[in-house]
Amino acid sequence: PRPILLTRHGESMDNLRGRIGGDHALSDAGELYAKKLVNFVEKRLKSERAASIWTSTLERTILTAAPISGFPKIQWRALDEIYAGVCDGMTYEEIKKNMPEEYEARKKDKLRYRYPRGESYLDVIQRLEPVIIELERQRAPVVVISHQAVLRALYAYFADRPLKEIPHIEMPLHTIIEIQMGVTGVQEKRYKLMD
Ligand code: G3H
Repeated sequence: PRPILLTRHGESMDNLRGRIGGDHALSDAGELYAKKLVNFVEKRLKSERAASIWTSTLERTILTAAPISGFPKIQWRALDEIYAGVCDGMTYEEIKKNMPEEYEARKKDKLRYRYPRGESYLDVIQRLEPVIIELERQRAPVVVISHQAVLRALYAYFADRPLKEIPHIEMPLHTIIEIQMGVTGVQEKRYKLMD
């Protein structure tokens, strides 16, 4: 059976500054992760000629995939991070201070809360449907390099976790979650490549 490998992009400059969204490059630690990921992917998918690497259309996932060679790379807009609308580029502190009602509304119902002119987790889950259909159809391994909120939703689908848990699933940086779908169900392995 073919594995699906899920990972967040390497740490970005926005992650470092605590800002949500944006479209920035990788930090030094993020660059290092991209290098470690090449070794991992090359070893893990050595004899898997038909494997492919899927990223979002955002810089930080494309840069994380950049050092990997020998596999086709596909960019999906549907793999882009949850869009925070008017809050894009703000820190959670700034939202709390300047838009307290928005902050509270999201805290109350993170799954359904939609950022003004942006998206909710439910919106993200809906736009992921074509990606999931295509992932189910693949016979070869796929490495999905995406973002925290999107990976929470994808992971929940494969690991059969309830909808209400999705916004709260832990999705650490610099870690690969390998999902194998076999006859006996889904198996999962985690590889933490660095802190
Ligand atoms: O930039 C967006 C974050 O990765 C999503 O995290 O839904 O926990 O705020 P959050």
